Amino acid sequence: MTVQPREQWATRAGFLLAAIGSAVGLGNIWRFPAIAYDNGGGAFLLPYLIALLTAGIPLLIMEYIIGRKYRLSPPAALRRMARPAEAIGWWQVAISFVIATYYAVIIAWAVRYVGFSVGQQWGDDPEAFLFGDFLRAPDTPGFLDGFVPGVFWPLVVVWVVVLGVLAFGIRRGIERANKVFIPLLFVLFAALVIRALTLDGAATGLDALFTPDWSELGNGSVWVAAYGQIFFSLSIGFGIMVTYASYLGRRADLTGSAMVAGFANSSFEILAGIGVFATLGYLATASGVGVDEVVGAGIGLAFVAFPAVISEMPFGGFFGILFFSSLVIAGLSSLISIVQVVVSAVQDRTGMRRRTAVLGVGGLVALVSLVLFPTESGIYLLDASDHFINQYGIALAALVGLIVIVWVLRQLPSLQANADATSAVRLGHWWRICLGVITPVVLGWMMVDSLRTEFQENYEGYSTGFLLSAGWSVAIGALLVGVILSFMPWPAGGEDIDLDMESPADRKER
Ligand code: ALA
Repeated sequence: MTVQPREQWATRAGFLLAAIGSAVGLGNIWRFPAIAYDNGGGAFLLPYLIALLTAGIPLLIMEYIIGRKYRLSPPAALRRMARPAEAIGWWQVAISFVIATYYAVIIAWAVRYVGFSVGQQWGDDPEAFLFGDFLRAPDTPGFLDGFVPGVFWPLVVVWVVVLGVLAFGIRRGIERANKVFIPLLFVLFAALVIRALTLDGAATGLDALFTPDWSELGNGSVWVAAYGQIFFSLSIGFGIMVTYASYLGRRADLTGSAMVAGFANSSFEILAGIGVFATLGYLATASGVGVDEVVGAGIGLAFVAFPAVISEMPFGGFFGILFFSSLVIAGLSSLISIVQVVVSAVQDRTGMRRRTAVLGVGGLVALVSLVLFPTESGIYLLDASDHFINQYGIALAALVGLIVIVWVLRQLPSLQANADATSAVRLGHWWRICLGVITPVVLGWMMVDSLRTEFQENYEGYSTGFLLSAGWSVAIGALLVGVILSFMPWPAGGEDIDLDMESPADRKER
């Protein structure tokens, strides 16, 4: 069969910006600070760095190699490795599908909060405003209950932007968008951190983040949290980096790029921690309470504590616009990469044109997101799907993928040779030990630890019925969909694709 030459990133910098844009997202600004604080403050940085070096960067390198070697998205690439492994690729695609549906919703909230920051429309009680006036959340979760137009319309805007960028393709869409997004994010965030560090009480907040609680290091759940954070934050385990690397040229450096992307992401993450905690220190000092009383996890931190700070400080509206715009931009560049996984997987296995795939498949992700989440119980659905798809989607798919690739198919030596042929930094034994032993052991332990907690108490105290329908079914559903899709008689891809076909960009590169 004939295939179109594969699209390719125009420059290495373009690819790196897109990879960094994918990694730096809501996970850095919205998730990392609270996770670090909950897990021993300064002492969390040690497990976090170990997780980055032993799992994050090695796995990122492996995903880059698979993408670049086969020049296919995860299902078709893994199928080329071994026919049954295609199911793991589709499983990752299904995980990306689920994540995209709710990730867009948090960006939509942030879009609204850019507007709410002007005049601090949340009034005296940001928590009541978020859950009551804005989201209209009931006390206990329901399903597909009242429609919430205040979330629906910004969500439509988010989806139009994301599908619009994707429709223009790798170079003209994703690469160009990231060339605007990443410098803009950097400027906005630098302004935000500088302002935060000059607030009264900033040092109190930084103390809370960086004062180590060494006793936490012996606590298994701190290590589990560190590895979980690294996976989500680096965008590994759900097909993104395989997909992005599949648009690289044959001679691209892989290990150097992975290190740049990995360290850039973690530097941004620690910077976000500094900015957020300096700000919380200000709020704690102004309200005469300890920092622990103003820290909330995830959603609460961004959409409750920050509005409270904004109301307290001089020119708070401007600070709010900086903060929520940063969330929107960081979120958009990540969401684009998540939806791209689904789009290119279908393109590679059907031969469909990009725009048809973006409209058809990307449109389906948008539709599911727009039907399920702008509802009164949308926030509960989001919370449960996020928890279950992270624990039993991303982490479990990464574990199964590693066992299959490293131990069953014994692919590491050939992947290593592939990377070493074109990379400045050569891979050594450490890379194989990290992927073959350390990461699978830690991920296996993570699984056992989280399952034990899951069966001891219901996540967030939700009813078992709700957790079965909005949590377990989502995680198990993604796996089943992956397996079913791998048995579909797709018209193209996998072993049919002519891998030796060169694109004009390849020829230029030689
Ligand atoms: N890596 C992305 C984030 O951190 C998904 O939000």
